[in-house]
Amino acid sequence: MLFENMKDSADAMTVQSQTAILFVCLGNICRSPLAEGIFRAVIAERGLSHAFRIESAALGDWHVGDPPDARSVAVARRNGIDISGQRARRITVEDFLRFDLIFGMDRTNVTRLRQLAPRNSRDRIHLFLEYALASAEEIADPYYGSEEDFIAVYGRIREGSEAMAEKLAVRAGSARSRGQASSTT
Ligand code: 4NP
Repeated sequence: MLFENMKDSADAMTVQSQTAILFVCLGNICRSPLAEGIFRAVIAERGLSHAFRIESAALGDWHVGDPPDARSVAVARRNGIDISGQRARRITVEDFLRFDLIFGMDRTNVTRLRQLAPRNSRDRIHLFLEYALASAEEIADPYYGSEEDFIAVYGRIREGSEAMAEKLAVRAGSARSRGQASSTT
């Protein structure tokens, strides 16, 4: 018997139908923790938390184990989102296989991700706003910037997350109605 009981079967179905999303930036303390927190909140508002697994990671190792930058924590908090419990981690080779969609926040992130990715996983990698909004715009690194830069980053990630939630929810819904896993490309 494939599953020990109905609960295992239900859990396996939940996992199978989840879309796994990884947001990546250079340090995993400014942009990608915000993206993780905002997209998770947007998905929760739509009652779709069960359908997604959402994480974030860094390309560099300077801040591994650190909480998000205080300016990211503050702008998220002002918008009702708590990202203070996140801790930076570096992307691993396994991440390229564990996640269906991997989003770089800027073009340099995307180029580096494509260099690191196993060949058969490169089509999972996208520039976030290109995928979400069909925009060529990058989410620029605000690390050496001002509070206003963090506010702008929050706003663009929020817009991208709302659009992506619409796009992926439609796909998740249509895949579920066909009894299949969702297509993400
Ligand atoms: P993030 O910002 O990539 O959005 O997390 C940065 C954070 C730290 C550094 C660079 C970018 N750094 O050079 O330490």
